[in-house]
Amino acid sequence: MSASILVLVYLLLALFDKQHKHTICKGVMAFAILGLVLSDRSTADSHIAVQPTGGKDTLKSAFGEWFAMGAAIPGDDLSQAERQLLFRHFGTVTPENCMKPALVHPAPDRFDFAKADALVDLARGNGLTVNGHTLVWHQQCPDWFFRDGAQVAGRELVLARLRAHITAVAGHFAGKLKSWDVVNEAIDDGHDYLRKSPWLTGIGDDFIAEAFIAARKADPKAELYYNDYGIELQPKRDKMLRLLGDLKQRRAPVQGVGIQGHWRIDHIPFKDIEAAIVAFHAEGMRVAITELDIDVGTRATAGAESGTREQDAADPLANGLTADLQRRLADQYGQLFALFFKHRDKISRVTFWGLQDGRSWLNYWPSKRTNHPLLWDRALQPKPALAAVLAAAKAEPPNAPPAGSGPAAPPKASQGH
Ligand code: G3I
Repeated sequence: MSASILVLVYLLLALFDKQHKHTICKGVMAFAILGLVLSDRSTADSHIAVQPTGGKDTLKSAFGEWFAMGAAIPGDDLSQAERQLLFRHFGTVTPENCMKPALVHPAPDRFDFAKADALVDLARGNGLTVNGHTLVWHQQCPDWFFRDGAQVAGRELVLARLRAHITAVAGHFAGKLKSWDVVNEAIDDGHDYLRKSPWLTGIGDDFIAEAFIAARKADPKAELYYNDYGIELQPKRDKMLRLLGDLKQRRAPVQGVGIQGHWRIDHIPFKDIEAAIVAFHAEGMRVAITELDIDVGTRATAGAESGTREQDAADPLANGLTADLQRRLADQYGQLFALFFKHRDKISRVTFWGLQDGRSWLNYWPSKRTNHPLLWDRALQPKPALAAVLAAAKAEPPNAPPAGSGPAAPPKASQGH
């Protein structure tokens, strides 16, 4: 019975009990009314306490409860304003270039960790985690790995170098990184299963498993990812699943799949992205979106094969985005994050490939032109896309079960992964 009904009964009793025959009854009711009013108030208070508090105006406050929000950065050479933006919105970073073999291991007996160390110190010193990128890739990898004097090196030598490189580099950062992109872009874009890279021709198709085994030895704690572009689409998605099967058979300790996410405006394959997230998670993988951007220019090439270039042509967006493009960019970023939020029980991290438009590789690939693929413009002003992304993190009623189905997610880490 609610307090208001009790009050009504009490008043009627008081009105007709002129001779005070029901004094005890009235006393009991008065206590009951007081108790109900107090308990109503405390229920209301606890309800208020579990309501979203609002103020979810940064990427990490909106999504960090579910998955880490990251940005790729060049090193510690960021302006003061960029640092503020980074620390306010993001919980994790990826070095865009400075941990790649060409930069850290330019010659067999020469290592240069200065820039990567500075990045790691900047991030960790400000409470951000770091995702290593990348140990084994066919780009930005010096030729010496694959040479034996004037000859092409044989399997044993290339394999020994792969192991030595991973032991030295992952060993150098051991204990300081959240994860490693152990192998990058090893799946073929065409008819073959694996890309005919110098790693494949030098070692054979066990080079990926060997890389994971070496990485686990060198850094027992970092989460180990395979990272690639276009693996949300067929036929690369099936090849990715085949690779996961092969790696499991070889007892390679792969723990996650990075879907890079270099997409083009009006061509984002939402259905395939969803299918890929579900399929990789069903294989027991953590799923990360590792290099997110949306190219607003036109180009013939899809994907992110940085070895492919197109002729430099006009620069139609040199003065900024048109209102229509700005709206479409916001709308499509919003749809992407609604999808990520729907599958938040499967996703470990979403990382943008750059902090602001002026820093994006899409200003010089596949041709040189002014691009606007990220959430902040060159003046570090948020674009409407930021609001659309934040709006995608819908407030859920307390204790709602996580979205999605399928097998239990691998152990999730908290913000700052
Ligand atoms: O450092 C030199 C500089 O000294 C020189 O003046 C300048 C002239 O062009 O080049 C500079 O190096 C460039 C380097 O980025 C640093 O800015 C290289 O030419 C350029 O090729 C290199 O591009 C990088 C690309 O990987 C290499 O393939 C991009 O910044 C980087 O964003 C991109 O990142 C890759 C991921 O690692 C893997 N997935 C695809 C993604 C996009 O290609």
